[in-house]
Amino acid sequence: MHHHFHNPVKTVGGIGALAALPGLLGERSAVLLTFPEAESLGFVALLRKMLGYRLAAVFDGIAPNPDIAELSVLYPQVWQHDGAEVLIALGGGSVIDTAKAMLPGTASGRFDEIAALLRDGAAVEFPRRKTLIAVPTTAGTGSEVTPWATVWDRELQRKHSLHLPAITWPEAAVVDPKTMQQLPQAVTLQSGLDALSHALEAIWNRNANAVSDALAVAAAREILATLPALHRQPQDLQLREAMALAALKAGLAFSNTRTALAHSLSYPMTLRLGLPHGIACSFTLPQVARLAIGRDAARDAVLAQALGPLHDAPTRLEAFLRDLGVKTNFSDYGIGDSEAAAMFDEALRGDRGRNFIGVAA
Ligand SMILES: NC(=O)c1ccc[n+]([C@@H]2O[C@H](COP(=O)([O-])OP(=O)(O)OC[C@H]3O[C@@H](n4cnc5c(N)ncnc54)[C@H](O)[C@@H]3O)[C@@H](O)[C@H]2O)c1
Ligand SMILES: [Zn+2]
Repeated sequence: MHHHFHNPVKTVGGIGALAALPGLLGERSAVLLTFPEAESLGFVALLRKMLGYRLAAVFDGIAPNPDIAELSVLYPQVWQHDGAEVLIALGGGSVIDTAKAMLPGTASGRFDEIAALLRDGAAVEFPRRKTLIAVPTTAGTGSEVTPWATVWDRELQRKHSLHLPAITWPEAAVVDPKTMQQLPQAVTLQSGLDALSHALEAIWNRNANAVSDALAVAAAREILATLPALHRQPQDLQLREAMALAALKAGLAFSNTRTALAHSLSYPMTLRLGLPHGIACSFTLPQVARLAIGRDAARDAVLAQALGPLHDAPTRLEAFLRDLGVKTNFSDYGIGDSEAAAMFDEALRGDRGRNFIGVAA
């Protein structure tokens, strides 16, 4: 069997990697998108100093979980700077996905065409585009190496995925654990569990291949070994570096496979209950593992590399999550058995759920 693996994102990683940013930008002009705390943490001043006149504007109010309504307001403000060819997204998945949604340049100069594409699949031509350099400050979503953005639609209670391969792949990703050192403990945990979910979902996935498997196995093992220690010592830069690299590997793995059942189950939990993405897509991992194990001998072999002996792997995964304070039953979140069963049915039919190896093709 041949494998096909493709990822065009140039990555620069390691402690102090942020110093590579001016070189990656070159002589181009950029707009910085970042999260509200970036100013007080000193990142905005640092980037102004590093980039000088090349930094045309800064938008530092980007909130979690970008929504069509918020993106519609931000879009024309960003495109006002039409001489700025590059967007620099310094932040978590929310900032990176917000920036991805700003990349296509619409004929009207408004977000409307992109909203129509997301909501109705309308055919849209984009006469212009911007380019993205992503600097993830969580470890994390892997959005710095994936071609899609999660766009929330609270008005219609839906979650969309913006995926325009010619436009939404980042050009480069700068993964510097120093930008993650002040990340609050709760976000460190949530984003780390999101990365674990990406790794496992890349394995119990119809689109898995030998390269995605190698990345996903390494990522899962490293996250299982690192996250509890980092939870206790959030300032430890070596642990931050290990998690940053593991999350990057998980991102590279699922950039080719996409996610599967645990993610499909997560979206209603976030939309309905406001559960953070990283908890919503990881609290079901033991249950999803139980469904995955025994389906396919080759997948089992790879899962065993990631999780150890499979007979008690779901139980160990449960203990891992509970030790980190994550509840693993739907009932813990106020969802009864019949409602949970209905959510599984719905999730298996969903776009991501169909990637799961436990579903009939
Ligand atoms: N595109 C993809 O491939 C992909 C994959 C997974 C998740 N996502 C999306 O990413 C979003 C979640 O992203 P996330 O988990 O990275 O969290 P986030 O970007 O939503 O950030 C969480 C919180 O942490 C703060 N924060 C971020 N970095 C910080 C830092 N260095 N120091 C202090 N505070 C900081 C933010 O301001 C925010 O309040 C969700 O919307 C999810 O759907 C996208
Ligand atoms: Zn995720």
